[in-house]
Amino acid sequence: MGQIPQIAAIPDRATATPSPGDVFAARARTLATRVRIRQIRPTDSAALQAFYTGLSDESRRTRFLGSTIGIGGNQSRYFCTPDHAHREGFVAVMRPAHRPSIIVGHLCLEPDGTDRAEVAVAVADELLGRGIGRRLVDAAVDWARRDGLRTLTATMLADNPAIQRLLTGLGLPTVAVPIGAGVVEVRIDLDTERTAA
Ligand SMILES: CC(C)(COP(=O)(O)OP(=O)(O)OC[C@H]1O[C@@H](n2cnc3c(N)ncnc32)[C@H](O)[C@@H]1OP(=O)(O)O)[C@@H](O)C(=O)NCCC(=O)NCCS
Repeated sequence: MGQIPQIAAIPDRATATPSPGDVFAARARTLATRVRIRQIRPTDSAALQAFYTGLSDESRRTRFLGSTIGIGGNQSRYFCTPDHAHREGFVAVMRPAHRPSIIVGHLCLEPDGTDRAEVAVAVADELLGRGIGRRLVDAAVDWARRDGLRTLTATMLADNPAIQRLLTGLGLPTVAVPIGAGVVEVRIDLDTERTAA
């Protein structure tokens, strides 16, 4: 679980012999559009653990700011039982044909002071770069605004361009503050209306 199932070649009527790369890209785009974003639930615990186990070592390192093999049962249950008032979570869920749903992305929000929350996010390696991270962060921004928060923060490795691009491309003012040991905190101002990124 947590891994996207093996991609099977799709017959293509337009071209007689599509390259394996074209077939894979087309299939992956289709998969990404079938991904649904929703609030996390207590019943997601086993699937969430499997999601983090299935991430690459590098994605787990950049998500947790250090090397780890994944999350334990207690941490997974904690992520899956936010109070929805101060803590929240969202998952990106996909249902491959004839298989149970799997989690392909996770975002958590933890209180970080009275009017701030810290956000952390990860997306399955097989589906990176297809807008799933942005959809998760958009859900977090909407939730934080509804909750009356004024700032979202995110702590990341300084050499993590993907999350930096994702957060600075939201159309909201952001400030990046180095906090030492190659770690940066990005602060996102929620008071301002979004502009086109
Ligand atoms: C960061 C992460 C969640 C982004 O997820 P994603 O689904 O690939 O992101 P999206 O497809 O929504 O892309 C969002 C933006 O980031 C950009 N981006 C994505 N990957 C990038 C990369 N490797 N380098 C530079 N920019 C990148 C995209 O181009 C897009 O910007 P645009 O809309 O201006 O073109 C994903 O890379 C990930 O899970 N990384 C491992 C965990 C991690 O590092 N989490 C951050 C710690 S809080």
